Amino acid sequence: MKIVNIVGARPNLMKIAPLIAEMQRFSDIEPVLVHTGQHYDDNMSEVFFKELGIPQPDYNLGVGPGTHTWQTAQVMLALEPLLQELRPDLVLVVGDVNSTLAAALVAAKVCIPLAHVEAGLRSFDRTMPEEINRVITDALADYLFTTERSANENLQQEGIPDHRVFFVGNVMIDTLLHHRQRAEALGMPARYGVSGNGYALLTLHRPSNVDVREVLGGILNALDSLQSRLPVLFPAHPRTMRRLAENGFLERIKTMPNLRLIEPLGYLEFLGLMAQARLMLTDSGGIQEETTILGVPCLTLRENTERPVTVTQGTNEVVGTSPERIVTAAWQVLASGGKEGRCPELWDGRAAERIVRILREKLESQS
Ligand code: UD1
Repeated sequence: MKIVNIVGARPNLMKIAPLIAEMQRFSDIEPVLVHTGQHYDDNMSEVFFKELGIPQPDYNLGVGPGTHTWQTAQVMLALEPLLQELRPDLVLVVGDVNSTLAAALVAAKVCIPLAHVEAGLRSFDRTMPEEINRVITDALADYLFTTERSANENLQQEGIPDHRVFFVGNVMIDTLLHHRQRAEALGMPARYGVSGNGYALLTLHRPSNVDVREVLGGILNALDSLQSRLPVLFPAHPRTMRRLAENGFLERIKTMPNLRLIEPLGYLEFLGLMAQARLMLTDSGGIQEETTILGVPCLTLRENTERPVTVTQGTNEVVGTSPERIVTAAWQVLASGGKEGRCPELWDGRAAERIVRILREKLESQS
């Protein structure tokens, strides 16, 4: 059973790691790893391979940055001949990035069965690039693996037959549980001169937040208030760094002594900081899930979430991007300690095991 696994961007790497490790346990599976090159900086890609023990990719398509259409098209053009040559039994994609969509389209065009891990999540916001990627990938997939029950309902409403959909839990949480102790042992807060539970951690990279000057400026206003009461560590994504510079906001940040702008971090370093944060502020999807498991209060700086279980059961609160709302919510967390939350169903570290078991059964029964 030859399975081609596709990765492209940073959040794909923590999802693929436990899947590849699980596939490697079976002599009847030959996992092939293809990196599209969507993320190419070492600190956005290579460091995760090293830390998470992911084997070096068998193929790198070297695509790099561009508009979404360009990026998607380049991945498709490079992947088509490769899949035709390899003729795998399955293509497996994870998450919702442009590389996910591109690989799904090619697999469908060259008639290779497709598995989508993290299927069915919906923000119902079609201006979000990832939403388009999710909807189309799910429409094309033969095996859809979901992380929460709301995803099964979404897929049902879109007319995806039930027999294709499997509720298995969350592979990203497999990775988190596997590495948590090692990450906490790094003593990350001390490295940044802050004490455990005595700082906020921030990530920001969504185009809707960082590409619009007014929105980014408004978030900075909120951070200005917050940093007057609590140190804020801000590992900035390359896109965000560029936007801060272009808009002259780096000068503004220099006037905020407790807002620390730092380079993107490796997986363990970031997890080490997140696990001991008093408060997380983010527009990332995955971090909403990770903080739920860590029991760290999370304020999501977006108008919606495709991961509702993190709100109904976890520590997440969707607060939008108005500075007043962000600050009010942050003060509430500081005063009350924030939501406690509980572990969502099947987020138990065994999702990859379930996925590989199902794939072996399905693919064997078809051969
Ligand atoms: C992508 C994903 C997003 C995911 C995020 C995590 C899509 C539509 N978006 O967004 O879902 O949450 O990754 O990081 O696929 N850049 C670098 N170095 C890199 C990678 C990117 O400098 O290693 C720069 C690019 O040149 C580009 C910008 O960052 O200007 C954005 O990169 P891109 O891959 O287009 O999207 P992300 O914003 O990273």
